[in-house]
Amino acid sequence: MLPKPTILDDLAQIKKIDRSNMLSFCVEAPNHYAKAARLAKEIKISYPKPKAIIVAGMGGSAIGGELLKDWACDRITVPIDVCRDYHLPAYANRTTLVLVTSYSGETEETLSTFLEAVKKKCMIICISSGGALQEFAKKLSIPHLRVPSGMAPRATLPYLFMPLPAILEKVGLTSGLDAEFSETVKVLREASSENSPEMPLNKNLSKTLASNINGTIPAVYGFGVYRAVAQRFKTQFNENSKNPAKWEFFPELNHNEIVGWEAAQEFAKCFSIVFIRDAEEPREIRQRIEVTKEIISKQAIKLFEVWGKGKSTLAKMSSVICTGDFTSVYLAVLRGVDPTPVKTIDLLKERLKQTGIKEKTIRELQKLVKK
Ligand code: F6R
Repeated sequence: MLPKPTILDDLAQIKKIDRSNMLSFCVEAPNHYAKAARLAKEIKISYPKPKAIIVAGMGGSAIGGELLKDWACDRITVPIDVCRDYHLPAYANRTTLVLVTSYSGETEETLSTFLEAVKKKCMIICISSGGALQEFAKKLSIPHLRVPSGMAPRATLPYLFMPLPAILEKVGLTSGLDAEFSETVKVLREASSENSPEMPLNKNLSKTLASNINGTIPAVYGFGVYRAVAQRFKTQFNENSKNPAKWEFFPELNHNEIVGWEAAQEFAKCFSIVFIRDAEEPREIRQRIEVTKEIISKQAIKLFEVWGKGKSTLAKMSSVICTGDFTSVYLAVLRGVDPTPVKTIDLLKERLKQTGIKEKTIRELQKLVKK
């Protein structure tokens, strides 16, 4: 039976709730990816091949690093870490490339890792739309890539993620990105139109998913190159839909998470699970997903699947991200919440200003400039 038409097919109602138009970023994502790919090509880097790579950032500015880690896993021989904290790992040194990403350029933890990277004489590239990160990168003659301003950090994923593989290519760690970038944009154009607000609910995967997930806590299960994609899906449910959500990945979830459903009983109706799938998923993973679904389906938990599209890894990852982004906005609409504002994050940042930690970091950066 087809789901009944809902508010999701009423464009005027959608606009009323999605006041700052988060949906337009989902619709325009292919264009943003195309522009980001062009910008990424312009980065000038004169660093040698690094021995290790660290992407330092928080939240919407860190997920690009996680995606990079999955994307690069089977193609580069240099380890990639994502640092979502105040301090860099102890191994960071002159041979480490640190990619410091903060959309605002003002995030306390990221500025702290930037300071450490400067002190440790790491090779550094900064990415931000401005802020203190841009200011100090300029003053310290550190390469800085400026991304377009005025968006929510999570909506700027194309600008925060695409430069990362491009940087790996520029330091000689990978090649052949052009073809992968163009396929990604092509696949995203299709995904964006299939999930667009104009596409009715009965033909629209994201609207259908949002309608079914509504009223539950979704858990998103990924694997391999879809590990961080599952995380992005989850964080979009948090920030856009203002909905609790969780994420896990195969095969690890078979060794703990799965037991949590064993006696779900009355909890079962509170959850839904989205399995990320791929026509070319490894045999061992396919079997695990099938067996896991069979076991979990004994509880009354709603189960859904989202399949990656395209041929290249980047296209596949981006196609699922696109579905997740749309779904999270449609879920926000169903819940009557504006997807864009993140009041609690803003409140937290405001409260934490009083600790003076960020000011201390800024003072230390100023000292380094004067040296
Ligand atoms: C995403 C979001 C947050 C920020 C995070 C770090 O839209 O609002 O997850 O990305 O608080 O801030 P920035 O990205 O400015 O470094």
